[in-house]
Amino acid sequence: MTDQQPAPDGVLRLINGYWATGVVGAAAAHSLFTHLENGADTAAKLAIRADIAERGAQTLLDGLLGVGLVELDEGRYRNTPEASAYLVDGKPTSLSSFAQLKLKHMGSLVALPEVVGAGGPVTDPTTEVARNPHWEEIVPAIAAQSVPAATVAAEVLGLADAGEISILDVGGGSGVYSAIWLETNPAARSTQLDWEPINAIARRLLAERGVADRFTTIDGDFHTTDFGIAKYDVALYSHIAHQEGPEDNVAVFARFRDALKPGGAVVICDYVVDDDRSGPAFPLIFAAEMLLKSKQGGTWRQSDYRDWLVKAGFKDVSFHSAPPATLVIAR
Ligand SMILES: C[S@@+](CC[C@H](N)C(=O)[O-])C[C@H]1O[C@@H](n2cnc3c(N)ncnc32)[C@H](O)[C@@H]1O
Repeated sequence: MTDQQPAPDGVLRLINGYWATGVVGAAAAHSLFTHLENGADTAAKLAIRADIAERGAQTLLDGLLGVGLVELDEGRYRNTPEASAYLVDGKPTSLSSFAQLKLKHMGSLVALPEVVGAGGPVTDPTTEVARNPHWEEIVPAIAAQSVPAATVAAEVLGLADAGEISILDVGGGSGVYSAIWLETNPAARSTQLDWEPINAIARRLLAERGVADRFTTIDGDFHTTDFGIAKYDVALYSHIAHQEGPEDNVAVFARFRDALKPGGAVVICDYVVDDDRSGPAFPLIFAAEMLLKSKQGGTWRQSDYRDWLVKAGFKDVSFHSAPPATLVIAR
């Protein structure tokens, strides 16, 4: 190796990136972060609490230290603040089930070289198959990801003091936005449009949170189901724009414009890239997921959202950071 030659470990870490997915997913599967949070701070104690082999527990601790999710101090392990916030079971922001789900998704990436050549999915695209069972698995697992964005949106829109508003959530999934917004504003009502099995999941989750009486669902395909005219104060489209192509997004935004009351706001949450596609890193990498799973989706630029919303009849368009996502709000 010459003086100018960079060391290979960064590239090797990326090539072996699945090690991180495996270690984090396996640790989540055995609730290691939860046991660490509750004071099991050695491999021996974790092995007993999680009912796994001590060799397995030590291997997971080594891996978690390597990826920066635990800290080690005089032989005692503890969660980093990030692991504590996002990987401990039962916390509203817990991504533990998402980490476990991603273990199962790793195999799908084998198709990526072929998908890149073809410019899209080589089997049935996940996002375009009606009532795809994929959603039933993924929707509860991704709910926690929307908690920070839903909270930022509620603040930007002043939902707590907005009175008797009505909300339309298209592709609402778990109903996590409705849950948070209905808790924030006890006079608000929300309607979710999604596939029937997904709406059933959302109704159950909203009932658990005690807000189901102000939550209704419409079963169907959002491309063809009527949104109504001047019915809603807020329309929401969270993590849907990335599965759709430009024309379909403009068509949905135009129908949102009609469905909103005068002065109403559309809220789009998604992984948005800078106009020159120079960042941020997370949405840039996420584009591969949409190439793999959708015929026309992608990570769209701020300028795409602005153009589409203006075409659809919106005037004021603003962007708000909710990392790794961005909120696009338009009136
Ligand atoms: C990535 S999830 C997003 C869920 C939720 N909005 C969130 O941000 O957590 C996509 C959701 O859109 C729904 N969906 C996708 N295509 C749909 C379609 N054509 N009609 C109705 N719902 C659809 C899925 O069932 C799923 O609940």
